[in-house]
Amino acid sequence: MAMELEDQGAPVRAAVQELGIIGAGLMGSGIAQVAAVAGITVRLFDTQAGAADRGIAGISKQLDKRVAREKMTRAEADAAIERIHPVGTLAEAATGDAVVEAVIELIDIKQQVFAELAEAAGPHTLLATNTSALPITDIAATATGPERIVGMHFFSPVPAMGLVEVVRGYRTSDATVDRALGLASQLGKESILVSRDDAGFVTSRLMTVIVQEATRLVEEGLSTPKEIDRACQLAFGHKMGPFATMDLTGVDVSLRAGNSIFEQSNDPRFAPPQLLKRMVAAGDLGRKTGKGFYDYRNEANA
Ligand SMILES: NC(=O)c1ccc[n+]([C@@H]2O[C@H](COP(=O)([O-])OP(=O)(O)OC[C@H]3O[C@@H](n4cnc5c(N)ncnc54)[C@H](O)[C@@H]3O)[C@@H](O)[C@H]2O)c1
Repeated sequence: MAMELEDQGAPVRAAVQELGIIGAGLMGSGIAQVAAVAGITVRLFDTQAGAADRGIAGISKQLDKRVAREKMTRAEADAAIERIHPVGTLAEAATGDAVVEAVIELIDIKQQVFAELAEAAGPHTLLATNTSALPITDIAATATGPERIVGMHFFSPVPAMGLVEVVRGYRTSDATVDRALGLASQLGKESILVSRDDAGFVTSRLMTVIVQEATRLVEEGLSTPKEIDRACQLAFGHKMGPFATMDLTGVDVSLRAGNSIFEQSNDPRFAPPQLLKRMVAAGDLGRKTGKGFYDYRNEANA
């Protein structure tokens, strides 16, 4: 039984027992997995027919692997899957203690989702967005009760990555920030608090600087992607260098992230290097197209 706390005169639960997730793609499914494993009932909604079922099938496969590696028992995996319910409407996903949104990174769509969530959810439901870089204040701008809207930026793959960046929007209340930190911890994650929703928050801003500066080093002929990746691994202990990372997540994704931070901040530090623009224009997007900074058409070259 969850403990009851007082939040501005209204009772709220200390621990989340029922979580709604909007968007059953890569991130939504990952968040559903960690929540279900943590004992939380999950309602998963996606506008695309069959996406929630596909998400659950993917989670089931992931949990099978964990059982095979003896990280969890068969009974624990089965119980986790049974906690995840695909639902057909956003309103059904909004009936729990908290909702995490993980839909496509477009401001108009996120604003629409939050306007609907704010109407459908109870007044004390925590509403979190997993946006990578859009301002929480903008996402919450058209919703009623923006004080309960907060950023919870998870990382991919969610079950493996330890951090959640909790981001405060202009109107986010202290109680909401506390509850988001609590939910992150319930999901087995560490968190950092970002006290203002400036472009790129902390992690996307840092990553943008790293990948852009690494690209400029190559443009200026100081070194090669392979050497710079080795330097980051051996000198800084990074698991993966910036070029291998861009190739994995998509050179276009890096360019879009940099552009978004540059446009929001108007700060020349974040102006994307020409090489990134030319690679995207030419279709060298990384592993997904067979070539990025490395050539994957013959894996021996990578
Ligand atoms: N992929 C990453 O590494 C990563 C990391 C951190 C944060 N994010 C952020 O997480 C969010 C989701 O990213 P993703 O990689 O999971 O994308 P994805 O494309 O894998 O999944 C998005 C899902 O949202 C669904 N969707 C779209 N509009 C919807 C709506 N109105 N209602 C319900 N569902 C809707 C789509 O059908 C799709 O299944 C984005 O904001 C992204 O920036 C992504």
